Amino acid sequence: MSTLAIAAEVKTRLVALRATLARAITGEGGVPADGRLEEPGSVGCKGDACLTCSFQAEDVLLTRLAIELDPQIPILFLDTGYHFAETYAYRDRMAREWNLNLVNLLPEKTVAEQEAEFGILYQSAPDRCCALRKVEPLFKAVAQYRVWLTGLRREQARSRGALEESAMFSLPGGKQVLKLAPLAAWTTRDVWYACEELQIPLLPLYARGYSSIGCEPCTSLPLDPNDPRSGRWGGRKVECGIHIQAAPGQ
Ligand code: ADX
Ligand code: SF4
Repeated sequence: MSTLAIAAEVKTRLVALRATLARAITGEGGVPADGRLEEPGSVGCKGDACLTCSFQAEDVLLTRLAIELDPQIPILFLDTGYHFAETYAYRDRMAREWNLNLVNLLPEKTVAEQEAEFGILYQSAPDRCCALRKVEPLFKAVAQYRVWLTGLRREQARSRGALEESAMFSLPGGKQVLKLAPLAAWTTRDVWYACEELQIPLLPLYARGYSSIGCEPCTSLPLDPNDPRSGRWGGRKVECGIHIQAAPGQ
């Protein structure tokens, strides 16, 4: 595909993305076409939506466009205590430069407390570690909103191949939130191109070869160059759990 064709495609995608975000964040343009809303008339007011941000490229792109619509939109960061120093420094830089309403979500136990009580869970039981440090704090926080914006994309993993752009998501306890993945159909190339167009500085770890970035002990350079998430959890697992909804009755 020529650079001109890529530019045209990304321009079209950005127009659609801005419209989706405007609907979700301010209610502008009416309710989503698929009508998946609890109370269609009332979703989409300022204050309804939050955005979960890992400070990877997708999330920073969404953040940049979301704050144009509502500078106060809560930007939720899961602070597991295990992130790369570069991620913390970049988070702080972006929060300062963009004046973000950053909500730093902490687990119940500090890293030291958890390691003293349970040992190194990311080695012995990574699912339990993710449950304590990511899933529990995130679900608790997201339950306060009606709309949850994420940077998930289908291309990222086979486990995300059937990702919907808009779907109700059940949280433990039964509450449902409207979970949006407005980048679902975007390719990595589209995301990179859009970030460049908008002059968004990216997390410096990408320049060192990382293609999917989470907690430091569970992130390596990709093991398979054709699979951007192959450096996550050393291939032991593919999802941390925050995108897996509660079974009915949980
Ligand atoms: S993960 O579930 O394996 O960590 P990934 O890194 O691909 O997922 O990120 C997918 C989406 O999960 C992001 O767009 C973001 O919405 C959310 N997410 C992942 N990590 C965090 C984090 N540390 N803080 C906030 N949101 C996160
Ligand atoms: Fe723990 Fe690793 Fe999960 Fe982070 S990604 S919460 S360190 S298991």
